[in-house]
Formats: sequence, C-alpha cells, structure tokens
Amino acid sequence: MCGIVGYVGFREAAGVLLEGLRRLEYRGYDSAGVAVKVNGRLEVVKKAGKLQVLAESLKERALPGTLGVGHTRWATHGAPNDPNAHPHSSEDGRLAVIHNGIIENYLPLKEGLLQRGHVFASETDSEVLAHLIEEKYQGNLYQAVRLALQEAHGAYGLVVAHQDSEEIVVARTVSPLVIGLGEGENFVASDVPALLPYTRRVIFLHDGDMAAIGKEGVRLTDLKGNPVQREVVEVDWSLEDSEKGGYPHYMLKEIYEQPWVLENTLGGRLREESATAELGLKLDPARYDKVHVIACGSAYYAGWVGKYLIEALARVPVEVEVASEYRYRDPVADQKTLAIVISQSGETIDSLEAIREAARKGAGTLGIINAKGSSITREVDDTLYIHAGPEIGVASTKAYTAMIAAMSLVAVWMGRAKGRLQDQPAAEFTAELRKLPRLVEEALEERPEIARIALKYHQASDYLFLGRHIQAPTAYEGALKLKEISYIHAEAYPAGEMKHGPIALIDEHLPVVVLTTESPLYEKTVSNIQEVRARGGRVIALATKGDSEAKKFAQDVIYVPRTHPLLAPIVSAVPLQLLAYETAVCLGRDVDQPRNLAKSVTVE
Ligand code: AGP
Repeated sequence: MCGIVGYVGFREAAGVLLEGLRRLEYRGYDSAGVAVKVNGRLEVVKKAGKLQVLAESLKERALPGTLGVGHTRWATHGAPNDPNAHPHSSEDGRLAVIHNGIIENYLPLKEGLLQRGHVFASETDSEVLAHLIEEKYQGNLYQAVRLALQEAHGAYGLVVAHQDSEEIVVARTVSPLVIGLGEGENFVASDVPALLPYTRRVIFLHDGDMAAIGKEGVRLTDLKGNPVQREVVEVDWSLEDSEKGGYPHYMLKEIYEQPWVLENTLGGRLREESATAELGLKLDPARYDKVHVIACGSAYYAGWVGKYLIEALARVPVEVEVASEYRYRDPVADQKTLAIVISQSGETIDSLEAIREAARKGAGTLGIINAKGSSITREVDDTLYIHAGPEIGVASTKAYTAMIAAMSLVAVWMGRAKGRLQDQPAAEFTAELRKLPRLVEEALEERPEIARIALKYHQASDYLFLGRHIQAPTAYEGALKLKEISYIHAEAYPAGEMKHGPIALIDEHLPVVVLTTESPLYEKTVSNIQEVRARGGRVIALATKGDSEAKKFAQDVIYVPRTHPLLAPIVSAVPLQLLAYETAVCLGRDVDQPRNLAKSVTVE
C-alpha cells in the first residue's frame, strides 16, 4: 500500500513528488524518499518517519531537476529505517528503483547477485530489482527493466529512473499504477490523487503492462515488448473522492483491494516448493501444546475461523475468546500456551489488556496486526503483519480476510513444525492459498446480483445468518457487517442450532442467509434450509459455483468460487461484505462512518 510518484517534464521534480506523496498520505507510510536527476546524476534523499521528515531534509538539500521518482513505504520486508526506505540505488548509483508489492523469489535472486559480487545496502526485497536491472543495463533502460522482470516474480508497481535516460520506466503486476498525461510533462503514481493538481487525463495500467514515460510522450508495451493500447480516461473525481480511488466509499474501495491485499499477506511467506510458511518469527511453534486466540469484533470472527484452521492442520487445541471476557476471567494459560491476539488497529484496549494478561501467565504472545508499530506490537513477543494497508472504512473488510489468510499461514507454520501436517495435504492447502487473490477477484464479479438481492430485502427489519463448522464464524461476520452499517438487526447461529430456539423466528418476512458452500456438511446444511423453507422463511444461499441444487431450495443464490473447504470463509466473506454495503447504500446510511461506531476502540 505504498505511495509512488514519478515525474518528467519542465517543473521542479522534487516539488511535484512531495506534493504527490502528500496526497497519497492516506495510504500510510513509515518512511519516504525521492531520487531526482540533477546535472546528469541521480541524487537520492530518503528518511524513516513521516513524510514531513523528508520535506525538512529537502529544504536543506535542494534537488534542482525536472525528472524524478518518489515513494512512501508501508514496510513489508525490513524495518522502517533510512537504508530500507525507497528509492533503492544500483551499486554504481546510476539508477534508482521504487517498488510497491512483494518480489516472492527475492531470496534466490539476492543469493545469485551476492555470488556475482553485488553488495546490498538494505534488507528489502525491492533492492534486488535495482541490482538486477543494473546487471541487464546496456544503455537501454526500458530493455533492462523488461529483462529483469523476466526473472523477478511477484507483485509490483515499479518505477525506475537512470541518470543517462530522459525517460522513467514503469511496470505493473498486481500493485496499481496510473499514468498522468500532461503538456510537455507526464506523471506516474500509485493512485489518482497525486495527479489531480496537474492533469485529469490518466491511463490505468493493467497487470503485465510496462511503459517508458518521457516528457513528450508515453510508450506502452507488455512484458514481452509488444505495444499495447490502453484507454485514456478523463477522471472527474473531486480530490476527496479521488482519495477513494474513484469509489464512492472507502469501504467499497477496500472491498475491491482484497485481491491485492491477499497477495501482500501471503506473498513472500508461502514456500510452495516445500509447502511451508516462512513467517520470520522468533517464536518456536513446537513449544506450545495449546493456543488461545483473543480479539474483538471482526477480528474475533477471523480468530474463530483460525481455530478450525489450526486444529485441522496442526492438531493443537485452540480456545477463541473475546478480549473483554478473556482479560477478566483469570484464564488458564502457561509457558506452553501460545496466545494469539488479532487486531487491525493494534490499539484495541480490550485486546491489549487481554494479551498482557496472557503474558503475565507466562504464555508466548503473537500479534496478527495491520497497523505498523501500534501498541499491541510493542507488547507481544512477535508480530505477523497482515499488510492490508490503511483500512479507513469503519467496517472491517480487507483486514478481515487478510487476518484469516494470516491465520492460515500460522496453521501451516505450526502444523509443519510439529510434524502433524504431511507433505501431500500441505501441498494441496498451500496451492489453494496461492489461488486466493484470483478467487476473490472472481467473487467480486457477483456484485450486480448481490446488489439486486440487497435491494429486494433492504426493508427487512431483521436478518438471520446461518453456517456450519468453519462457515459458522462467517455467518457471524456477515451478520456483524450488515448490522453495523445498515442498522438492520441481524443475528447468526450455527445452522445446527436452528431447532434449539431460533427457528421460532422464521416467517415470510425474515431473510435467512445460509452458507451452503461445498463441504462435508453440505447435506446437513441443506436440511436446515428445508426447515427454514417449510416455515415460509426467505432463503438466500451462498453456494459454490456449479452447485445446481441450490436454486431448488433457495429463493436467491449467490455463487462463490470453489476453494479448499478450510478457505471458504475468505471467498464467502466478499459477497457478505457486498450485501451489507449495497443494503446500507439502499438505506442511505453513512457507510464509512456508521453511527455510534469508531474505527479503533481505544477505550473500554
Ligand atoms: C469490524 O467491522 C468492526 N468495526 C469492529 O468489530 C472491529 O473489528 C473491532 O473493533 C476490532 O478492531 P481491531 O481489529 O482494530 O482490534
């Protein structure tokens, strides 16, 4: 979720870069830097900390030049410090790269470069690109970048400048890049707000696109060098809108960011060749014989999904509890307990106090956190960041699915370390994990049908959500999403609980959302649906694509892509987020800032 800006034209590049990075501030950052071509040389200034620290440095060290690149970093590999800040330079200092995303095979690439005598200045994956492009450079920057990207795999929004080139070269796979077209000047950025003071004519690069950007023109190709045509779009957003990337609400933008976020959460940690998860943690998973998962709200439901994952893959007993209960019940925890606290903000006071309680009992403590350097990260033994980028909408969406992805990695990590996850099931599961970004993209395509269903039921006074096994927490999360932004009363139950009371609620006015995705319990869940239908209930089924039965027992069906049953909660969360969103829009609610709520509950 880094901020990227590139400029070539007639203005002072440093000013354009700083202004652009300021407009990307909502993307969050922990360090920032620029590279500007000054009298034929690339001058680099980069600083840890807020953008203001860099701005102060630039007041003392002017960089008079009209070609430059700038970056604000949301750290993935390596601490947020000066050396790890972007831009990263080649050894000869003649080129500089800035990068948003994760190079999955950076370790083997780095080993090769080290063997060939390259010396690295940082611990980042991105710096590998600077050395690789330097190796390929023989006078043509575009060609050098293109050749380097034949070897580097992963997610990137990449911008490269060279002291001998009048162009900046860019490439995009997964991490967004947009080109701004001016008169005698051209721009590139990771998001539209950075471009708006100068131009509203933009080109959104597609995955696999490259471009050579000069002040008089832009050449677009694919990674093979074949020219590509892309539409020039006239953006008509207000600046406030544009910080939402053209979406009407941050929540919708963040729902659509999930494929990219999952790439970030998983990228670089999954070792498919060995079907393991490299989490870079100090904790030794083999040490623990039970797990406590502690969180609030959506994070709690993500942790509940995590229970199924860890018990299935690592065969370690898991207790899941809301933090506000855990902290006051004198929990039974000791040195052989791993306490996992999950929190997007890392500031939720109940979660912070609960993990302190677990630590007091001697438990090992692990944070599954989004916000870098937040309070909880300073309390736990280890932190596994979910890399979801700043989540502005109060209703958690991309952080929720990223938390589940992170718990999936923890389940593999524990299962392999304790020798309870064998090669074959590990390979199957990690292969399915790798597919998640694309599957979520596919799930997003159902939005028109979901909007139709939301409109059909938006005047209901109550909703019921049902799910079994690992889809029970999904039902609870779906109910939470709906109630917190539409204000419709919604509750959830394990589907098998229907007969023990909730079935009294069923009548023709009650929409019942049932998670009936492919699973060993599919038939059981369908029989629960028959009980609902028999009493006049209106059933909205979430079913796996290709399920021809669902239409027979449900008035409405939302299809989700097929995946491993243990990963169904991630692909199923997306339609439930959209159902809540579209319902709230129908009702004219304040989607991003629903009444009574706060993004981070830092008081008890
Ligand atoms: C999520 O939609 C809610 N806004 C809320 O339940 C949230 O998940 C909860 O407050 C926990 O926040 P945290 O992840 O920052 O700790």
